[in-house]
Amino acid sequence: MMEMMDRKLKEADPEIAKAVEGELNWERETIHLIPSDNLASRAVLEALGSVFDNRYSEGYAGKRYYGSQEFVDRAETLAIERAKKIFGAEHVNIQCYSGSPANLAIYFALLNPGDKVLAMDLTHGGHLTHGSPVNFTGRSYNFVHYGVDRETERIDYAAVREMAIKEKPKLIVSGATAYSRQIDFKKFAAIAKEVGAMSMADISHITGLIIGGVHPSPFPETDVVMTTTHKTLRGPRGAMIMCKKEFAEKIDKAVFPGMQGGPHDHATAAKAVALKEAMQPEFKDYAAQIVKNARALAKGLIENGIKLVSGGTDNHLILINLTPIEKGHGIFAQKALEKANITVNKNTIPYEPSTPFYPSGIRIGTPTITTRGMKEPEMAAIADMMATVIKETEKYSLPAEKAERKPYLEKFSSEISQNSKIRKVRDDVIKLSRRFPVYEGLTYV
Ligand SMILES: Cc1ncc(COP(=O)(O)O)c(C=O)c1O
Repeated sequence: MMEMMDRKLKEADPEIAKAVEGELNWERETIHLIPSDNLASRAVLEALGSVFDNRYSEGYAGKRYYGSQEFVDRAETLAIERAKKIFGAEHVNIQCYSGSPANLAIYFALLNPGDKVLAMDLTHGGHLTHGSPVNFTGRSYNFVHYGVDRETERIDYAAVREMAIKEKPKLIVSGATAYSRQIDFKKFAAIAKEVGAMSMADISHITGLIIGGVHPSPFPETDVVMTTTHKTLRGPRGAMIMCKKEFAEKIDKAVFPGMQGGPHDHATAAKAVALKEAMQPEFKDYAAQIVKNARALAKGLIENGIKLVSGGTDNHLILINLTPIEKGHGIFAQKALEKANITVNKNTIPYEPSTPFYPSGIRIGTPTITTRGMKEPEMAAIADMMATVIKETEKYSLPAEKAERKPYLEKFSSEISQNSKIRKVRDDVIKLSRRFPVYEGLTYV
């Protein structure tokens, strides 16, 4: 038994060790542009892989249902105090497993089934848990959605206000998963106040930018704020809810025992570490560089003739509109870029003319490459490489017949992997990536 306990991963499970090593090498040799991803520090990973994984600790610090919680309480209290200090939040619940259950907990705390909520539409940049009809939230509450203006492709606050006055929602949700412009949280909170609604901000994508002072904060006006901890914040996968004191009891009860059982104490410890890192002066430089990099990448793409939703970016994220090539082209661009070791995700664009599975855009962002230390000159090079790859996909378009799509995409994948220009880009991507090493010395095999 003890022998089993002391084995390293490569001895205990070589297959998993190889998979982890594969992921590590992939992280080392790709330009990773998925805007919701990042690289956690070794300290965060260490806390995440710590003995806190062994514990159950239902309840909250000082009020647990299990004994011997001294160290768990210490880690949880540190995490909460750090979050309060960073954001100026009156109350923090750090226990949320991830962003989606955290949003559910907020709705569970503040609403009754069937209550009306105003939030951003999924195809305009909102998240699934902002009331998409395929999501539990859309089935349980009466969501009505605002989008972006057709011309500017930005949120039209006058239109949101008009909708709020007409619809009289109980809750107004701001925040997005695919919106490249600043969000005026103060305006959202003011609209909510005017119509007698509660206000909620989902800042998951931009937390790090808010901490770094390069995106306006939803505090102190917004009633409840949710953030994931693994995106620009660069912590472990997880989430936290911050709120005004008056909502504290309801939120805590909704998280536990309402939605969850035992908190993930290893994740709580890792959240505390990430929050401490976010309090260091270097974090501000990192946040500022994310935005500078996104602007430089956007500029490079535009100079290469690529169309961007809303014409650019204010944050970490860029949404590319591929309809000048063909509607539904996102899947071709994603697959071809993947062959060149550039990772992006296909995404709908506002007023999407195709479908969510075959959308017309791709979504990219700069958090991971900024964490690696890349700056504006590398952004210009990445924009050129992306444009070269996207250009190679121009002669492909989705068959109208659904049954023909799968075989056609398979054929496309194999053809594109033989493409000499794309192979050359892949070599250049690997060379560029190796100049910015990741987790040096780490190995699992
Ligand atoms: C704005 C927003 N809210 C909520 C979530 C959900 O987070 P999770 O995937 O951790 O459940 C995401 C994740 O992409 C998000 O972007």
